[in-house]
Amino acid sequence: MEVIIKPDRAAATLLVARLVDRELRANPSLVLGLATGRTMEALYAELVRMHHEDGLDFSLCRTFNLDEYEGLAPDDPNSYRHFMHRHLFSKINIDRRNTHLPDGMARDLDAECARYEALIADCGGIDLQILGIGVAGHIGFNEPLSALRSRTREKALSPLTLKQNAALFSDPVQMPTRGITMGVGTILDSHSCILLALGRDKAAIVARAVEGPITSMVSASALQLHAKCRVIVDEEAASALEGQAYYRWIFDNEPEWDAFR
Ligand code: F6R
Repeated sequence: MEVIIKPDRAAATLLVARLVDRELRANPSLVLGLATGRTMEALYAELVRMHHEDGLDFSLCRTFNLDEYEGLAPDDPNSYRHFMHRHLFSKINIDRRNTHLPDGMARDLDAECARYEALIADCGGIDLQILGIGVAGHIGFNEPLSALRSRTREKALSPLTLKQNAALFSDPVQMPTRGITMGVGTILDSHSCILLALGRDKAAIVARAVEGPITSMVSASALQLHAKCRVIVDEEAASALEGQAYYRWIFDNEPEWDAFR
């Protein structure tokens, strides 16, 4: 794991966008894992800007989102499919047939989860998975006690997640209480991943995920097992980390980051 601390939200978000840009230019058929949520909005805005102003080409890119609510149709304004369409897919030159999210309306949810796993495998696995972190420590909808080897499955949302995400529903009563999510094991199988966390609200959980024990109570702590995981944070989200000086030293001295300082 590498932890990179940037001065503010904009700088942390820009670094993630530049890393996506680098991977996509190196491999135009990149299999990109995507997340939703407030943290991702500025990242997608930057990728849209890069598409329009710098010619970043998504025409061959394939995407898999981490999760979707159960029972929300793709055109429901609160569905993650709709979020992705609004913030990214409708604004870049991606082929909609190459954009994948679990189908929260599937009649047979177990079959849908198996189909999603098979589709990821058919594409050769996820090259780069983008992640956010919930205040309950989840990645995707992998709520506390999610097995570290779990695969795509349906999951009950924890009270903390329900509280965190209810703010995004105009009528919080309408918020589904279950979702389909890639498993922690599915995420760990990605070839590389980047977790983006911003703001003081995330400081405590980022510290537990990065410096605490690996535990299913904090799904993001499983990323310590990932062979190529970057955690990119702003100063506020980094504020509870004990190893800040060390993480900064690595970033300042690793030749890999020369172009990104
Ligand atoms: C959603 C997802 C979640 C979010 C997390 C943070 O697809 O993967 O794990 O990344 O809940 O959400 P925000 O960014 O709204 O704080």
